[in-house]
Amino acid sequence: MITIKRTLIKETIKEIEKKVKVCGWVQVIRSHGKILFIDLRDVSGIVQLVFGPEFEKDKLTQSIRPEWVIEIQGKVAKRPKGMLNPKHITGSIEIQVENAKILSKAKTLPFSIDDDGYEINEEKRLKYRYLDLRRKRLKKNLEIRQKTIQFMRDYLIKQEFIEIETPILTKSTPEGARDFLVPSRNQSGKFYALPQSPQQYKQLLQVAGIEKYFQIARCLRDEDPRGDRQAEHTQLDIEMAFVSQKEILDLIEELYISIIKKIFPEKKITKIPFTRMTYEKAMEKYKTDKPDLRRNKKDPDELAFAFITDFPMFEWHEKDKKWGAQHHPFTLPNFVSQNLGGQAKNIKEMKKNPKKILAFQYDFVLNGQEIGGGSIRNTDLEVLTAVFEVLGHKKQDIKKKFRNYFEAFSYGVPPHGGIASGIDRFLAVVLKEPSIREVIAFPKTGDNRDLMMDIPSEVTKEQLKELHIKLNQKSK
Ligand code: AMO
Repeated sequence: MITIKRTLIKETIKEIEKKVKVCGWVQVIRSHGKILFIDLRDVSGIVQLVFGPEFEKDKLTQSIRPEWVIEIQGKVAKRPKGMLNPKHITGSIEIQVENAKILSKAKTLPFSIDDDGYEINEEKRLKYRYLDLRRKRLKKNLEIRQKTIQFMRDYLIKQEFIEIETPILTKSTPEGARDFLVPSRNQSGKFYALPQSPQQYKQLLQVAGIEKYFQIARCLRDEDPRGDRQAEHTQLDIEMAFVSQKEILDLIEELYISIIKKIFPEKKITKIPFTRMTYEKAMEKYKTDKPDLRRNKKDPDELAFAFITDFPMFEWHEKDKKWGAQHHPFTLPNFVSQNLGGQAKNIKEMKKNPKKILAFQYDFVLNGQEIGGGSIRNTDLEVLTAVFEVLGHKKQDIKKKFRNYFEAFSYGVPPHGGIASGIDRFLAVVLKEPSIREVIAFPKTGDNRDLMMDIPSEVTKEQLKELHIKLNQKSK
């Protein structure tokens, strides 16, 4: 037998009257008397295979079941008139099978993959995610995710941004959630933290003179997950030197308008330029800092982007009876609009009345969801020390705790600022998905488990010993 190269299913329409080899999964089997029809699926599409009467007695062919992986050689033929199927790109042709080979058999799937899958128990879907992802809807979501990220990359690189990877084994930073900790084997009793975001690194890259940084960054936060939160999420993370708040918001606005035009042309943006509104106004008018500004909430293709600006620098945490940073401590307090008569007076007032101080901080909102946030950073070490004091750190500990910052900023730091947009949340909104889990290949459950890999999982006594860790009786 002559070996021929595999043809992707979508390409078979160009091969009429020619012999092709196609491979894929069996989608549907229909037996019409002596003739057997199989819809075969590969990454590019679905094609109809026709097994003629010569296969009627062929045991192997007759035993084929859905989701088996097969390889076919046959002739591409135009379908008879009246048998066309406009649902598939290959709907005008079929392949008349000459030779069939079974590459792999399959058990009956635990659930159907022909529909959108929303009705199926989610834990089951996540346990068999590799089957769930055979679903057309999820495959399309992954493709769109990739296109969106590629567009972001190309767009920023054209504007001379540099994409830089920052470490995953890093140090605990005050970003607001709990850290995931990684014990050090070589240094007993010491830990790395997984990054809640690349915040400190991207600021240090400004000290390094990079000026225009971005990263498609994985961020890890040990928080209680909800529909719009995951322990791991992906951000489009940006930082720039010598930049104003307006320039950052303009960049994001232009980027997102371009993404919608190119990747989601069916969508309508409610208002361009995007609404920019202060936090105070949003709270007064909409009682929320993420207002849904769509004109018609029933219109599934409407997108209302907005920037909420001038957030308060601090928020009171009643549970711990202390002040926290609304965004993060590296945000610049806005003394410009509240100049109380010089640096010393500004600092004094901030310590006395933290509630009053606003910040150069902004959120990016889409249809009532927070899809991004950022700030202009505080590079004034005196003000930074005061901010940490308000947050409850002792003056003598501050320099030690944030030594990398204080030291780096003493070697010539440019004024800088940035933003990070949540890619999962953005995609869930534009794709009208009920949860960000639908746009992530391998998400975790509501209680942070991966049912497919069965994690978190126990480790051996030897591993614990090497890491100098002893579990207490209860957690064993
Ligand atoms: P922030 O913490 O506001 O800012 O995060 C930025 C955006 O990331 C998304 N996001 C999440 N998405 C899914 N699951 C989560 N657990 C999750 N947490 C956050 C949101 C959010 O708006 N370093 C700063 C940015 C900066 O100042 O430049 C930061 O991470 O859409």
